[in-house]
Amino acid sequence: MESSQVRVVHHPLIDHSLTILRDAGTTTDAFRRHARAITVLIASYVLDHLPVDEVRVQTPLEETVGHRLNTNVIFVPVLRAGLAMLDAMSDIVPQSKVGFVGLERDEMTAIARSYYQKLPSHLADAETIILDPMLATGGSAIQTIELLKEKKARHIRLACIVAVPEGIRAIEEQHPDVAIVTAVVDRELNEKKYILPGLGDFGDRYFGTID
Ligand code: PRP
Ligand code: URA
Repeated sequence: MESSQVRVVHHPLIDHSLTILRDAGTTTDAFRRHARAITVLIASYVLDHLPVDEVRVQTPLEETVGHRLNTNVIFVPVLRAGLAMLDAMSDIVPQSKVGFVGLERDEMTAIARSYYQKLPSHLADAETIILDPMLATGGSAIQTIELLKEKKARHIRLACIVAVPEGIRAIEEQHPDVAIVTAVVDRELNEKKYILPGLGDFGDRYFGTID
């Protein structure tokens, strides 16, 4: 499933944390810690294309060449589950801006309904990273990409934790310019459009809203 558009990040610590996320017995507390650990490991790959300028820097001993980021980075977590990835990402890019997109899948149809949007301006010149841990049908990611493109975003990437081929194919077909970075590509969707083997409802497990 890996291609020039899709990067699967392989790392033993991702395998370890992902197994804890998959385990139905994992507590909310552990789920949060390991979701963060995976995000930290994904971050360096999803941000590896950021442009920098060469600058001179004076160390305590001599002057040398350094590099400074020369672009705005905008993170767009898709509510709710995308919030799980925001802290770790914005720790790494403290000057980043954040936009929010609220989408919720209908339980019967699995079609996402939009309920909130708040985006920074100047998307055209920025590197925009969508944060959503689950890429299932691709409906939520595609709605988010379309909204960002309507607002003139030109450089968009998607960071997720678990993806399936169906969602990846949908993005590849409709938005071949959007790179996807994920921790794993799972087998398939079930009849309710949940990912198999997956980890269940990410938002419910992360926010502790399971009955
Ligand atoms: C989940 C997940 C994605 C979406 C993926 O959100 O966080 O946004 O489903 O599914 P898709 O690729 O088929 O669109 P959900 O609608 O469950 O909302 P939540 O994050 O508020 O729990
Ligand atoms: N959203 C989730 O949280 N889990 C899935 O398996 C699919 C969509």
